[in-house]
Amino acid sequence: MRPLFTQDEIEARIVELAEKLNAIYREEPLVAVCVLKGAVLFYADLIRLINNPNIILDFVRLSSYRDSMDPGAIDFTRDLDTDIAGKHVLVVEDVVDSGHTMAFLFETLRARNPKSLRLATLVDKKSHREAEVQVDFACFELDQGFIVGYGLDYAERYRALPDICVVEQASQDGSE
Ligand code: IMP
Ligand code: MG
Repeated sequence: MRPLFTQDEIEARIVELAEKLNAIYREEPLVAVCVLKGAVLFYADLIRLINNPNIILDFVRLSSYRDSMDPGAIDFTRDLDTDIAGKHVLVVEDVVDSGHTMAFLFETLRARNPKSLRLATLVDKKSHREAEVQVDFACFELDQGFIVGYGLDYAERYRALPDICVVEQASQDGSE
């Protein structure tokens, strides 16, 4: 496990992002949507820096059917409580990889007629894209490697690590 983006680097990128978001939304009604579970720490840190008294917090959880032949076969395991029609919506995600998950979510949310719909992701794996997704804000970009920590998991482990770490291959002799 090798730290790739440290707590301090993450915090600095989130402060920059929050400044942009504050300039865009000001005090207009805004629904900030956390994509569970991976984005939870990023979301918690980000929303504390948003100076908008009209922010509403809401949560979705999505599951992809990894066994299915259709990479776009995704569904909600938890949907929003909030009616987003006519409101600004900011989706907060951990990693955009192939893009299938966010393509599904955006198609679904767009049909509910929000005033605007934007995507902020902690990490953008741009070069892995299969489905078209517009990433409005990305704190970090990554070309290769599997990362854990700061909300991100490997089989539900490592979410509570404070840094974002790369999972390295076990070495030849089997030690980590
Ligand atoms: P997509 O539909 O391929 O874009 O899948 C994105 C989802 O895969 C993210 O929400 C993450 O939960 C997960 N994911 C992709 N890459 C990583 C990684 O490096 N570490 C942890 N989760 C990842
Ligand atoms: Mg995720």
